[in-house]
Amino acid sequence: MSIRLAVPNEIFPGERRIALEPGIAKRLIETGVEVCMEKGAALSAHFPDDAFEGVKIIDSAAELYKDADVIFKVQPPTLDELALMKSGALIASFMAPHKNQHAIQKMCEKNITSMAMELVPRITRAQSMDALSSQATIAGYKGVLMAADLASVFFPMLTTAAGTIRPARVLIIGVGVAGLQAIATAKRLGAIVEAYDVRSATREQVESLGGKFVDTGVSADGEGGYARELTDEEKQQQQDVLAKHIAMADVVISTAAIPGRPSPKIISKAMVADMKVGAVIIDLASEGGGNCELTQPGETIDYEGRVTIHGPLNVASQTPVHASEMYARNLFNLLSPFITENGELELDWDDEVLANTVLTHDGEIKSERYREVAK
Ligand code: NAI
Repeated sequence: MSIRLAVPNEIFPGERRIALEPGIAKRLIETGVEVCMEKGAALSAHFPDDAFEGVKIIDSAAELYKDADVIFKVQPPTLDELALMKSGALIASFMAPHKNQHAIQKMCEKNITSMAMELVPRITRAQSMDALSSQATIAGYKGVLMAADLASVFFPMLTTAAGTIRPARVLIIGVGVAGLQAIATAKRLGAIVEAYDVRSATREQVESLGGKFVDTGVSADGEGGYARELTDEEKQQQQDVLAKHIAMADVVISTAAIPGRPSPKIISKAMVADMKVGAVIIDLASEGGGNCELTQPGETIDYEGRVTIHGPLNVASQTPVHASEMYARNLFNLLSPFITENGELELDWDDEVLANTVLTHDGEIKSERYREVAK
């Protein structure tokens, strides 16, 4: 029998994304799957119900979850949502595994197979399934627009009848997916862009986008392409060099994260006090507490009338159409290899991507990486 795939309304406050879009719904239906969506669930992402041709619209979450074999979601399921799911169902979603122990326990109890989008391996084959990357791309882009909006200066150089305007100096801290997109976006807006990361491989990437790499002499390449935590000495050396570049910047966009850990504090209060009057910090690492000592996640702070520090949360949700389209494609690419010609689900446990992404199955926590972050 073909599976029933359900997409609920996202109840997390401020969440505007949805785990489906009309094109992906069509492709799922073509694979023989029955697709259901909660009434009005995609409106916050500007997709009305009637845009989803062939999708069964269901009035309530309870009714939707009751018969769902597979659930596509954006935010981690709450305990209330899990209570509505049938035992043995599969859910693919962000799971924030390091802070959702109760939900994980509940999924084990209910024999729910969960696929955590954070656990998709960062390998070439899985790039089209990598939701951390697709959503970070949006955050990097949007972060620059937020900065341009809050800045007291133009980004591009302008030659006008009223004189020549110097371009803004933008410093990007952390050159992962979000940082790279931030560099590209700030360059497109005409700023002078510098960027810094502890991973030495990023120098070439920064330069290929037309940015200037800030060399602090500290390199902290960690496992699997991620950064490791720095020693106290390394932190000091990093801080001394960075302080000079932060003081010259009109805009600082920080994106430095360590998965499952609080974001490293890189921009101290003293560094902020030394910044140009009118400078702006966009702290895209706010979700993990922020890279700036003064950041208050979810708030915009005016530091002594000198520097604006903006700590946005869930930035990808602010571009809900493309964020939903990219996220829904990631989910489709992840699950569709396991949908048979008859629209049934057959998981292949030898598949490297699946084996890494599964968080719970058969009443147990399967993920080794989860065990590491939950320690
Ligand atoms: P992230 O969001 O975990 O971190 C952002 C950036 O902050 C990283 O580049 C990290 O090195 C940097 N950072 C951490 N601590 C720092 C510190 N104290 N000072 C300065 N910078 C610091 O990164 P994201 O975007 O998730 O990427 C992580 C890694 O995965 C990268 O190596 C990236 O190239 C790789 N990747 C590989 C993919 C693939 O091959 N399929 C797809 C996407 C990412």
